[in-house]
Amino acid sequence: MLWDWSKSGTRHAPLTRLLRRLPGVGTAAAYRFGLVERPHYAYGVRRATELAARLGHRGVTVVEFGVAGGNGLLALAAHARYYAAATGVAVRVVGFDSGAGMPAARDRRDLPYLFGPGFYAMDHERLRARLGAAELVLGELAETLPDYLATRAGLLREHPVGFVCLDLDYYSSTATALDLFRGPAHEHVLPRVTCYLDDLPGTIEQIGEAAAVAEFNAGHPERPIGRVLGLRSFTPFDPPWADQIYAHHRLDHPDYARLEAGATGDQLPLDP
Ligand SMILES: C[S@@+](CC[C@H](N)C(=O)[O-])C[C@H]1O[C@@H](n2cnc3c(N)ncnc32)[C@H](O)[C@@H]1O
Repeated sequence: MLWDWSKSGTRHAPLTRLLRRLPGVGTAAAYRFGLVERPHYAYGVRRATELAARLGHRGVTVVEFGVAGGNGLLALAAHARYYAAATGVAVRVVGFDSGAGMPAARDRRDLPYLFGPGFYAMDHERLRARLGAAELVLGELAETLPDYLATRAGLLREHPVGFVCLDLDYYSSTATALDLFRGPAHEHVLPRVTCYLDDLPGTIEQIGEAAAVAEFNAGHPERPIGRVLGLRSFTPFDPPWADQIYAHHRLDHPDYARLEAGATGDQLPLDP
């Protein structure tokens, strides 16, 4: 127990579960303080709905790349229901996965020493029975993502992507997922998209997710993906996941420079 409590990464989950049970901590407080399952997903949905509302959108899409058994997608769907009710912004939830577990590694940077083909297979029927309105797109991402972008263009226009969870483990699969941000259709994404990068801890910059992001940034200086600086210090309970929150800034998006209604105060008068 002491071993677990000595490390912030393992300390947080039981701590938040404990705080959640305190008398008087209702759903609104649990969301406000990040005392929910997968608080990083809740944070992403909150940022997406907030930005959509500030820019006058009535809908937004949140995406999980890499679904496995489906616990994350179900948590994302629950957070989507909460923030849709709280903000009035309709939230579409989409998960992408092979449905058959990890494909074979394609690149040395895929961490082939940690992951093998077939890891994280999914029970589709069980998951689909619990998904509700959330969409599950099954198949190799290099095929399903371009097809999705082409066939759901109208839906994406009405619900631009505002949050993306990257949890595909491989460098090569993550590079494919980032095609979402390479596309020319500005109307498919908000000008700033919150991203959660699940697979950074324990890797190095030159492999895995970090390498895919670095490569994307080198090729797209007008659409950087960068870590949100200082987030941990102004997030309740100082959670380690805050270090894995990134944002995609689409500087060439026509709405990039639009002032977000209500985003900040506009005066800082001198103290009396
Ligand atoms: C670690 S699991 C995801 C875990 C899940 N997000 C969760 O929190 O429970 C990684 C998943 O990525 C999927 N994946 C990796 N590369 C893929 C690819 N190229 N196409 C489709 N799915 C892929 C695998 O099928 C696997 O289920």
